[in-house]
Amino acid sequence: MKITVVGTGYVGLVAGTCLADLGNEVICVDVDKDKISKLNKGIIPIFEPGLKDLLDRNVREKRLFFTTDIKKGVQESLVIFIAVGTPEGKDNKADLKYVWQVAADIGKYMNEYKVIVDKSTVPVGTADKVKKLIRENQKKAIDFDIVSNPEFLREGEAIGDFTFPDRIVIGVESKRAEEVMTQIYKGITRSGKPLIVTDIKSSELIKYASNAMLATRISFMNEIANLCEKVGADVKKVAYGIGLDSRIGPRFLQAGIGYGGSCFPKDVQALIKTGEENNSGFKILDAVEEVNEQQKLSIIPKIKKLLPELKNKTIAVWGLAFKPKTDDMREAPSIILINELNKAGAKIQAFDPEAENTAKKIFSHVKNLSYANTPYDALKNADVLVIATEWNVFRDLDKEKMKNLLKHPNIIDGRNVYEPEEMRKLGFNYIGVGR
Ligand SMILES: NC(=O)c1ccc[n+]([C@@H]2O[C@H](COP(=O)([O-])OP(=O)(O)OC[C@H]3O[C@@H](n4cnc5c(N)ncnc54)[C@H](O)[C@@H]3O)[C@@H](O)[C@H]2O)c1
Repeated sequence: MKITVVGTGYVGLVAGTCLADLGNEVICVDVDKDKISKLNKGIIPIFEPGLKDLLDRNVREKRLFFTTDIKKGVQESLVIFIAVGTPEGKDNKADLKYVWQVAADIGKYMNEYKVIVDKSTVPVGTADKVKKLIRENQKKAIDFDIVSNPEFLREGEAIGDFTFPDRIVIGVESKRAEEVMTQIYKGITRSGKPLIVTDIKSSELIKYASNAMLATRISFMNEIANLCEKVGADVKKVAYGIGLDSRIGPRFLQAGIGYGGSCFPKDVQALIKTGEENNSGFKILDAVEEVNEQQKLSIIPKIKKLLPELKNKTIAVWGLAFKPKTDDMREAPSIILINELNKAGAKIQAFDPEAENTAKKIFSHVKNLSYANTPYDALKNADVLVIATEWNVFRDLDKEKMKNLLKHPNIIDGRNVYEPEEMRKLGFNYIGVGR
């Protein structure tokens, strides 16, 4: 099948590459000339494990192409996926300006029947507006179908998640579009993965409800962790105990310093706004959001417990990305942490295996921040180590060496990477989350 994917970010690039790998001929379109020029040279603009090999193979076998020419993308394919960003707008609603732009372009250049697939995360009702915009921009009336096909991949696991998903959701309003979508995903559903067909609005809402539920679990566990700290319980044991209940399950029960990323914060906000606009309150999500903001800041008093005065102190920060296995720092808790440390006059020595380049753009205003080449280098003469992202590389490092490099053996473990008893036995002043 001939497919165009508009937007070659974390989702569009993975979706386009994986769809090509399923045997389709895929054109990836982006307005970012630099990104497309890099991709045409085989340079991947993001860090995503496994993506480079898959992309190279499909380019080599002439199933995957990159262009800034949206007209070509629209006219040469039967199916057009919209995978542009839908960031949080000023009013906390999803900012849909990129989606509107693509819809207008699709209308303008449409030459025959097309299936337009919304893969971006968009508020319920967006497909109707996309449809209207396409019609308004058509030079002559041409038939088309709209489909909602939200994406559930996780950065860092994106290839596996796209090709081996828990489920594929498609919201349709015509049999013709359903058949096209079923055909596209045949290579995935063959292995028994369910493809759920719903109406468009339910599909749009499934995506927001999923992310809001996951964010809720995180904030819930963070509040349990805060209680654990007060009463002397261990949140890891509590999480294990409740996770064995089959009605609850073990995943997304890790306490930490709050969720970040390109999805949860903005999607929770957008769903709250959708509720407001429809006179349907979201008291739970208001609290989820508030708890998360508090949790991101909770690390500062913990640092101050060990170092009451931060001015001129050296703080090692391990992990800048919002989670491991990505270079994405959108809404990362490390941003609040580093800004607060900077305000307090501390010197920061940071290490992240992949996010350093992203960080340099975000922290260009922070003068007292340097980047270390290894986790150990970041510890040299530091008064405290703060762990903000649980990269696997941090788990089994040489603890004696860590202790010797630090000026004082202080660790604030914002991701519960280590075991408190073991660390205390080794002579560290160790503070985790909820333990
Ligand atoms: N990142 C994730 O983990 C993830 C997971 C599931 C769903 N989503 C959703 O998928 C969507 C895309 O997210 P992302 O993280 O890939 O975003 P991103 O910011 O990484 O990429 C978006 C891309 O769209 C391009 N773009 C913007 N306007 C364009 C236009 N008019 N024509 C062509 N290209 C255009 C941008 O240049 C950019 O390269 C969002 O709605 C997001 O909520 C993201």
